[in-house]
Amino acid sequence: MPRYTSYPTAPHFTAMGEGDYREWLAALTPDQAVSLYVHIPFCRALCWYCGCHTAVTRRPERLARYTAALLAEAALLSAAVPQAGPVTALHLGGGTPSAIGAEGLSQLLAALEKEFRFAPGAERAIELDPRVLTPAIAEALAQGGITRASLGVQDIDPGVQARIGRPQPGEQVAQAVALLRRVGIGAINLDLMYGLPGQGIAEVEASARFAASLGVERVAVFGYAHVPWMKPAQQAIDATLLPGPAARLDQAEAAAAVLEAAGYLRIGLDHFARPGDPMALAAAGGTLRRNFQGYATDTAPVLLGLGASSIGQLPAGFAQNIAEERGWLAAVEAGQLAVRRGRAVSADDIRRGGLIERIMCDLSLPRDAIPGDAWPRLAPLLADGVVALTPDRLVVRERRFLRHAAAAFDAYLGTGAGRHSQAA
Ligand SMILES: C[S@@+](CC[C@H](N)C(=O)[O-])C[C@H]1O[C@@H](n2cnc3c(N)ncnc32)[C@H](O)[C@@H]1O
Ligand code: SF4
Repeated sequence: MPRYTSYPTAPHFTAMGEGDYREWLAALTPDQAVSLYVHIPFCRALCWYCGCHTAVTRRPERLARYTAALLAEAALLSAAVPQAGPVTALHLGGGTPSAIGAEGLSQLLAALEKEFRFAPGAERAIELDPRVLTPAIAEALAQGGITRASLGVQDIDPGVQARIGRPQPGEQVAQAVALLRRVGIGAINLDLMYGLPGQGIAEVEASARFAASLGVERVAVFGYAHVPWMKPAQQAIDATLLPGPAARLDQAEAAAAVLEAAGYLRIGLDHFARPGDPMALAAAGGTLRRNFQGYATDTAPVLLGLGASSIGQLPAGFAQNIAEERGWLAAVEAGQLAVRRGRAVSADDIRRGGLIERIMCDLSLPRDAIPGDAWPRLAPLLADGVVALTPDRLVVRERRFLRHAAAAFDAYLGTGAGRHSQAA
């Protein structure tokens, strides 16, 4: 079942040229706020479970060349959207974006500020690996205006960590959080995972308690997606130790119970936030969004992607950069926008995508918004009581079936389907 970070989902993207993308960009108007996503696909070592688009390197020339190409791409993009609205959010993701170093991050953040017009109070966020965060990097991020950081934790048990190729003492995470707070990056998210090899309820609960004990603003609890046919590094994981579907559900609920007892509010499929955090407020106010980064509070109608494999979302459709580093570099260094795949959206896609986004964020939909063809797909879910009808709304009662409920509105499901993991 797709995670619905877009509709149509990425497997339905097809070949697309730079020309089409430039037309879409040229059609943007000053009233349309922009969100920027920059993908930096490097890590110091590969964690065996990792499903992200990343590569291992410490070679300074490779990292410097990538950074220079990002600056060039920022200039190319800004020239292609002279009339776009203000930037209201920036997200640096990966991989581990800090791989480009303090100097590289400073250059990148300065170049983005120069090329784009940031709105006052725009949110600037980054994904970080606590094992490689240094004071110099934290300082560079704070100087560059970053206020929110997301750190990978997964599980704090040394046994689980050994089975996923990610040794990381809890103390290291606590130190990274303290360092970020010291430099003024106070809005912190921790990523946890369940469904890992040899992981049980006790380990999941201990990891959730650990995250809560650090008092972070947000916690994400992802179900491990085991897709070794797509991610060969996952072959290092002993699949015989993976928890089954029922155990995975119990683990997800156990993490939720710990976090809710600690005062976090449960949001969407896999997020938790402290009351008062912008994500909790957005969820309560019905303005939470879902995009390629997962859940987001930013309401910009335009998302522009920079870096290899990044995906942009424009009113006209989705546009994805060349995924492979060398191809992306070659295009950008030749002065081209590196989009080669994408998908124009029809009025029906926009309507269905809107319903899917709302149900993924709100866990409910107005009854009168539900198209006729969705009812036969909803019928078994209604019969099982996992979704229910109130006088005016369809309500998801069991969060673990949220993606199934969203799939009722997916006109492409089952067409050109790929293999899916059992990630809940
Ligand atoms: C880009 S990483 C986070 C930042 C940094 N690279 C780190 O690992 O600390 C994104 C997050 O995706 C999650 N993730 C990675 N591989 C996954 C998989 N196969 N299934 C589910 N979640 C996964 C992990 O929780 C990870 O922290
Ligand atoms: S989980 Fe993070 S650090 Fe580990 S390989 Fe993936 S992106 Fe890199």
